[in-house]
Amino acid sequence: MEGINLNLKEISLDPDDWNKYREFAHKAVDLVFDHQMKIAEKKVWQEIPENSKNTFLEQLPKNEMPLEDIYSTFKDDILPYTLGNIHPSFFGWVVGQGSPIQIISSILQAGINTPGGMFEQIPNYIEIQVIDWMKKLFNFGESSSGLLVNGGSMANYVALSVARYEKTTFDVLQKGFQTSDQFYTIYCSSETHLSVYKATEQLGFGRDAIRKIKVNEQFELDVDDLRSQIKSDIDQGYKPICIVANVGTVNTAAIDDVDAIADICRENNMWMHVDGAFGALLILSEKHRDRVSSIDKADSLAFDFHKWMHINYSAACVLIKDEQSHRNTFSSTADYVSKLGRGVLPVGLKMFPNYGMELSREFNALKIWMSIKENGTLKFGRLIDQNIEQAQYLGKIITDHESLELLAPISMQIVCFRYHGKLSDEEKINRLNQEILLQIQEKGMAVPSSTIISGKYAIRVNITNHRTKRIHLDRLIKNIIDIANELGQN
Ligand SMILES: Cc1ncc(COP(=O)(O)O)c(C=O)c1O
Repeated sequence: MEGINLNLKEISLDPDDWNKYREFAHKAVDLVFDHQMKIAEKKVWQEIPENSKNTFLEQLPKNEMPLEDIYSTFKDDILPYTLGNIHPSFFGWVVGQGSPIQIISSILQAGINTPGGMFEQIPNYIEIQVIDWMKKLFNFGESSSGLLVNGGSMANYVALSVARYEKTTFDVLQKGFQTSDQFYTIYCSSETHLSVYKATEQLGFGRDAIRKIKVNEQFELDVDDLRSQIKSDIDQGYKPICIVANVGTVNTAAIDDVDAIADICRENNMWMHVDGAFGALLILSEKHRDRVSSIDKADSLAFDFHKWMHINYSAACVLIKDEQSHRNTFSSTADYVSKLGRGVLPVGLKMFPNYGMELSREFNALKIWMSIKENGTLKFGRLIDQNIEQAQYLGKIITDHESLELLAPISMQIVCFRYHGKLSDEEKINRLNQEILLQIQEKGMAVPSSTIISGKYAIRVNITNHRTKRIHLDRLIKNIIDIANELGQN
């Protein structure tokens, strides 16, 4: 024992007074439940005061701080100044709301704090069950596999990694691109989400590999253009390997012709990936599921639980039709994770790190599993139908209004429109709509986002919100007209 100080007091992060922490936990639960219950009465978003921003410029703390102080910083400087996405009038991008059961599941998850998707432990079996449910929901078959990831971006990345492994002709894991003199090409519509481009860049294909195919009037990939681009690329010596079909584009929620794309993939021995970040969940709707039933023709699918299934941030899934390709792409091994045959690492154990990049992951399956158990798939489907009907309702108000103009067909739950009043100058209309949008956000009335549709600035309302009622849409339109009037543009 020489050199070891046995008199040193041993410490841990556990509190001396557990009950004090328990009481704080109760207080914190009350705080966030009140916050959610009363959210509709609050501003959707508000500007952050300088002193709140300054709170987060302090130096790295060396010493302990009382729990009371940390808690009040949360209450005063964090809670009021979040994005506002849990509000019924939040319509920006495709951001989800979560639901109250997620407060409970987050506490339970934090309480057991176990790594997800590995080791012989029930959390692993919950993840297996969630993935199995999703495989069945999308009719991916017994020999498929899946992985829970943080978002659609990572789901797209994992899927395209498997596509690269399967469809390139060099040894991607051993030699990388070092030995390849082949130029591979990847196809998607010009409306495709940036995460697909990012994945293509990071996987070493490079931006030049992406062929952005033009879209038709419905903003769906133009299949004839796709065919001729592939033919022209083959004629020039390129090797087409993958098509990404959109099931719900981020701008307008357009759904590409999945059947036609599947045929083209089969004819050319290409990988078919579906980016169904939110749209794939149309499968839960009794009314609209036929629109996405061909997703099972894809080799891979990416979708988000945190969008149209209202799971708290963040939770997404990637499904791969052939489990073997999925495993082959990601299962590097090392002595310290090899199976011991029994105990915590028994033979036959499913280890999800063999299906993606991350070794340590949260036990996210719990919140997904709890919410699915709480609601059942039918309720999620009814909420999707409700949002689609609300989008149609909003569309009707817009088309009936002489000063408003719809800028894209309403495919699902996204409505892109603008105020034009009596203006005809396109530049002025663009500037006016941007000003209206900013005022709506800054006054805390609602948070729509914006996009450009055929060169026109659009106010974009996405309704993947289980809290939204028609009255919130009525209010939004009234606010837009009022602001336009105040700006003297009626
Ligand atoms: C169509 C589409 N694909 C991919 C993504 C990326 O998903 P995430 O933000 O969960 O990474 C989004 C996000 O909005 C999306 O709308």
